[in-house]
Amino acid sequence: MRLTVIGTGYVGTVHAACMADIGHEVLGIDIDAERVAALSAGRSPVHEAGLDELLARHVASGRLRFTTSLAEGADFARTHFVCVGTPQRPDSKAADLRYVDAVVDGLVPHLRPGSLVVGKSTVPVGTTARLTRRLAEAAPGCEIAWNPEFLREGSAVHDTMHPERLVVGVSSERADAVLRSVYRPMLGAGVPYFGTDPATAELVKVAANSFLATKISFINAMSEVCEAAGADAMLLARAVGADSRVGPLFLEPGLGFGGSCFPKDIRAFAARAEELGAGEAVVFLHEVDRINTRQRTRTVDLARRLLGGSFTGRRVGVLGAAFKPGSDDVRDSPALAVAAAVQEQGAAVRVHDPEALDNARTAYPGLGYAFDVPKACEDADLVLHLTPWPEYQHLDPAALAAVVHRPLLLDARNALDAPAWREGGWTVHALGRTPLAGVS
Ligand code: UDX
Repeated sequence: MRLTVIGTGYVGTVHAACMADIGHEVLGIDIDAERVAALSAGRSPVHEAGLDELLARHVASGRLRFTTSLAEGADFARTHFVCVGTPQRPDSKAADLRYVDAVVDGLVPHLRPGSLVVGKSTVPVGTTARLTRRLAEAAPGCEIAWNPEFLREGSAVHDTMHPERLVVGVSSERADAVLRSVYRPMLGAGVPYFGTDPATAELVKVAANSFLATKISFINAMSEVCEAAGADAMLLARAVGADSRVGPLFLEPGLGFGGSCFPKDIRAFAARAEELGAGEAVVFLHEVDRINTRQRTRTVDLARRLLGGSFTGRRVGVLGAAFKPGSDDVRDSPALAVAAAVQEQGAAVRVHDPEALDNARTAYPGLGYAFDVPKACEDADLVLHLTPWPEYQHLDPAALAAVVHRPLLLDARNALDAPAWREGGWTVHALGRTPLAGVS
């Protein structure tokens, strides 16, 4: 089949490359001419395992091309995937739909009769219905469907090629048939396909993210109680997660979630539910958000207490800047929020990250940075472990103890081997495991 993919950011570039890989002829479209030139030369704007190889292969074969022209796209194909961003609005918690609207407005005058526009961006429920009305006036006979993506940063190609489910919100059997053909190779491999109305498909995405965020905040709320009661949140999480109805994933007590999706998606969802008069039903999402943000404050507070009540004149080494390991993304990164707060309260902070230093420096130019862990921890009074990169689990605690001023560790991700660090001479505290009574 011939497809276009409009918007070559994270979702779009991965979708375009994967669609070419399963056999489609794909035209990627973006307004950014520099990005289009880079992609046409096989260079990806984002780092994802396997993406460069897919791009190179399919650009070389001619199955994947890029352009800045929506008109060319409308001429090339009858199926158009919209993958532009839906950030949080600067003036509220709602989603900003200006990019989605601009693409639809730009595409509509050129659409061939019978074309299908398929949204992949995360949008407030009701967006497909609103765009359908717009299409009915300007491009009769064309249709719009919604097909959310569930990819995780760091495993985006794998998640797109091997999805756990496909969710497709359509208004006609014809649209359903088109999307079944697009995804035929995956359906052949047994991937469950949920054909729904568009509103349900839009909601599945935000409901899925809300559930995962709720799970994280739930265990973090429990970790706060554990600290107060002198209990161990890690053991609690393992024992609770062993119930197959609960499951162990996304139940790790720690600094909480960040990134470009969870925080904005739950806020936009709550805002939309309120508009619909159903805000009471999801009022707990505000609490999920609040608990998540509180984990950052609690980490800063615990760090301050471990230093005897003040950061002034202290050195703090920070391990991790990315919002999660395996990514160089620092958008809404809990690690950087904590590092910045610690510095603001008077400490000299030096941050290490294996991948995200450049992005961190751009986002927080005022923080100190180091290219290796010993340099970040040199003369430190406290080391904060904030992003659980696997390499931090392989550090030599004794060697690191030799470079710090005082071997004091706060593991805010519960990912380091506390006994091994204690063996190496460290005093170790961890979120959800350090009884507050024992700290001054
Ligand atoms: C997420 C969803 O997983 C994906 O389906 C959706 O399409 C986009 O948002 P992503 O943002 O890439 O993907 O990250 P994910 O791996 O899901 O982690 C989200 C955040 O939760 C990270 O900050 C992570 O550190 C945090 N997290 C995860 C916890 O704090 N505790 C956990 O137990 C698990």
